[in-house]
Amino acid sequence: MNEDIALAVIGGTGVYRLPGVQWQHSHTLQTRFGAPSGPIRTARIGSAQVAFLARHGEGHALPPHQINYRANLQALHDLGVRRVLAINTVGGIGAAYGPRVLAVPDQIIDYTWGRISTLCEEPGSPVLHVDFGDPYTESLRLELLAACKAAGVDVVAGGCYGATQGPRLESKAEIARLGRDGCDLVGMTGMPEAGLAREFGLSYASLCVVANWAAGCDPANAEITLEEVLANVESVSGHLLPILEQLLAS
Ligand code: HPA
Repeated sequence: MNEDIALAVIGGTGVYRLPGVQWQHSHTLQTRFGAPSGPIRTARIGSAQVAFLARHGEGHALPPHQINYRANLQALHDLGVRRVLAINTVGGIGAAYGPRVLAVPDQIIDYTWGRISTLCEEPGSPVLHVDFGDPYTESLRLELLAACKAAGVDVVAGGCYGATQGPRLESKAEIARLGRDGCDLVGMTGMPEAGLAREFGLSYASLCVVANWAAGCDPANAEITLEEVLANVESVSGHLLPILEQLLAS
């Protein structure tokens, strides 16, 4: 495939394909870091080529700590991708981030551990100290926010994403601590993906889909279930294609 890919989308929990998009090609790649989570699908949206990778695998076989984040980004990079839109399914902590809200975070705190989180892991690799003060690429964030507006989709601009280890959900005390730290959203896959994207030199932004109130934040104090998470993601997934159409038209 010789045509430039304008954007890659990495789909999170409940986003294993892009509703309304017919894939034209499927790329099964190996990288210097091993295999990515699954095939990379490509399709045309409007006049642009788009790539898609399901972060957890198309059958959601990979828990967050076992995702080969480096292989995923290397495979996209090898296909010529330079811009990545991460879709992250998250819990909401701040009052503005209730279920079914879409948000474009601007900060991250990393609470994960034991994940390979850098391209400098192997002996002899050049040591990188990339700037990460603004962990998401501001120009892509702004394009994404403008695309949401043009598509008529409400979105919360900004927020701090707390990346937890999972795969279990958090305790109420853990979420209270994240809230005190300034986190508005909690998910399990935001890191090391964002940090690696910066090391790869990729433009990278996240569209967070709030699937549930994080532990202790639900006024009704209901238990968090996978059914609720998937149903809420499903109910807003129809917004993804219109947002992408606008993003690719800009
Ligand atoms: N916590 C962490 N990750 C999540 C959550 C949550 O409540 N919901 C969806 N992903």
